[in-house]
Amino acid sequence: MLDTIPFPAAPHVRLGSSSGQPLTRRDGLLKVTGAATYAADNHPAGMLHAVVAVSTIARGRVASLDVAAAKAHPGVVDVITPANRPPLAMDPDGKHGLFGFRFEALQNERVRYAKQPIAVVVAETLEAATEGARLLAPTYEVEPARIGFENGERHNPPTVGIGSPADFDRGDLAAGLGAATHLIETEYETPAQYHNAMEPHAIVADWNGDRLTIDTPNQAILMARAGFAAFFGIPAENVLLRSPFLGGGFGSKAILAGPQILCILAARMLGRPVKLVLPRDQMFGPVGHRGATQQRLRLGLDAEGRLTALEHRAVAMTSSFDEFIEPAANASHNLYASPAISTRHSAVRADIGTPGPMRAPGEATGSAALECAMDEAALACGIDPLEMRLRNYAETDPATGRAFSAKALRECYVQGAERFGWAGRPLAPRQMRDDSGLLVGWGMGSALFPAPMFQAEARATLRSDGTALVETAAADMGQGAWTALAQIAADGLGLDIDKVEFRAGSSELPDGGVAGGSGHTATAGSALHSAGTDVIGKLAEIAVNDPDSPLFGAGNAGVEAHGGRLYHRADETRSESYSDILARAGLQTLEGNGKGGRDPANAEARAMFSHGAVFAEVKVDPDLGQVRVTRLVGAFAAGRIINPRLARSQLYGGMIWGLSFALHEEAIHDRRTGRPMNADLAGYHVPVHADIPAMEALLVDEDDPYVNALGIKGVGEIGITGTVGAIANAIWHATGTRAHRFPIRIEDLTE
Ligand code: MOS
Repeated sequence: MLDTIPFPAAPHVRLGSSSGQPLTRRDGLLKVTGAATYAADNHPAGMLHAVVAVSTIARGRVASLDVAAAKAHPGVVDVITPANRPPLAMDPDGKHGLFGFRFEALQNERVRYAKQPIAVVVAETLEAATEGARLLAPTYEVEPARIGFENGERHNPPTVGIGSPADFDRGDLAAGLGAATHLIETEYETPAQYHNAMEPHAIVADWNGDRLTIDTPNQAILMARAGFAAFFGIPAENVLLRSPFLGGGFGSKAILAGPQILCILAARMLGRPVKLVLPRDQMFGPVGHRGATQQRLRLGLDAEGRLTALEHRAVAMTSSFDEFIEPAANASHNLYASPAISTRHSAVRADIGTPGPMRAPGEATGSAALECAMDEAALACGIDPLEMRLRNYAETDPATGRAFSAKALRECYVQGAERFGWAGRPLAPRQMRDDSGLLVGWGMGSALFPAPMFQAEARATLRSDGTALVETAAADMGQGAWTALAQIAADGLGLDIDKVEFRAGSSELPDGGVAGGSGHTATAGSALHSAGTDVIGKLAEIAVNDPDSPLFGAGNAGVEAHGGRLYHRADETRSESYSDILARAGLQTLEGNGKGGRDPANAEARAMFSHGAVFAEVKVDPDLGQVRVTRLVGAFAAGRIINPRLARSQLYGGMIWGLSFALHEEAIHDRRTGRPMNADLAGYHVPVHADIPAMEALLVDEDDPYVNALGIKGVGEIGITGTVGAIANAIWHATGTRAHRFPIRIEDLTE
């Protein structure tokens, strides 16, 4: 089955532990040979193709659709509109669960944003469905679109992000500002960004009676299964969701959205399997995005450059009908030890699709503004930006007073600066040029991201041949879960990784939790490890109670497991292989189970974050304002690193997102029509290879015994948080011009 990865022998020398080894991806061969099956690669017999027709207006009603014309087209099987759409068991406009966003599944003719689904055409071929959708030629009753901060409706959200309070205060802000020698007041704007994973949202839905099989990339497989089942009024067990590989998720594939529901609906209505793949432009509407922000900061500083007050206000854009409020100001809660911290969020409603979590939601946008503001503060105080951070970074979490695990952040500053060669950087801007006359600038930024854990379960089965099967419904978005999680599982079992078969990516398996919040390795990894130790405990129980075993009488705590054998702790010459123990007990298999989740006492007592520092060099053409990033060095402390190759790759990815945020990504909506004007990868810029400089990601050692028994934090999102500010600050250092909006444009740097 496609969700079982064959396990070729890894060509690495290992000494006992799989964790810590820089293994290459176990699924790499499948991917480079095209054998990895992505959702859209599935073609069940009799499959039809669905194409969604989307609105070209941002607000109003669909007045007419030429359904007859579409149906008359050869190959078109049916057209689904609000007029004939079968009922769902739940209202798409209801709010269902923590990640339950309102979505459009043809519940009525209303249009709430451009690119909203307004009909589905199902046909024998993709071409016929595409042509059928074109023939619908919708007409609309158009209402004026409200686009942009100045045209939207003000809104005060009760919570931001996923359930975080909109306001936060610690200490006396007025007193802190009053005590300041230097006062910095500044503003930054960040744009709408769309996830744009390389693999668009895709689904193949196949009903068999009241049982549903869906192939669709998903970051939270069991949660999604429950959601789909609820909308179709069937038990969750009746849904098989397969998601062995994702071509990127970035938060968008953690959210249940309209197009998937419409595909499943079409399959049920027509009694045949149906495939729906969103074309790139339809990724700019119904499947979430990062909401635009406007942020205002006030920093009070004493004569030595120490913060006396930190105020962060964020206005976030959301849709007219639902909300996800980018929690940008929360980025100021945990990093710098200001005696007074105050954050506020408000929102503006516009005629756009509802935003959602995207690549470090809140931390990315908020740290971009905060890190630039810290540089402005350093300038005002006449001190080096790195020194500014060293004077202000928090040794305990300023928001809660809880201890951080270690002084890891300081190490990141020191090691990153050393590697970059930061010493000797001139304080004033426009001091450095390269041989060709380009302005050179150096900037840095602090990186911070929470180290959350969610809930996950796993199963481990020892087999009589000395191999093991480990299972959890984990999701691999490309980050390397197939490999890193198998490494952890192998250590839990005391087996060489080549003996471990790992199954993931399917709802038949124990709940692997969410691949999000940079917490998947910690959470699913903990579940896998404890499933391994559970089954080894059972095996030891058998051995130590068996008079024929060399381990007889050792007691459970008296044995240890490695290399597929149990050893007597006091006498290593007494040992026995797993297979021998199972064979004598007459067992073909032995099963153990495990759970991953945070220890509540530790969660209460400690503040848990990954830390880092990023240093950037840019070169700017003094006449044209063209910016190139020429060097990026990040240093990150993220607990125990399971696989340095994959962890570095994750950090590079995050840093590239940061570069993208600083210089490239922006979705622009036409003020008159509300349509996204650059809904493709030609107009929505993301960096290509030529934009990416020499990069380094240093892994700073950190032993954190509190985050979880394995000491694992996350590396998925933190890279973006330091990099945006580092690049913006380097551009200021090169040019002397401070850009106050992202992405930074040539016209922001030239008069
Ligand atoms: Mo993410 S935005 O934690 O998938």
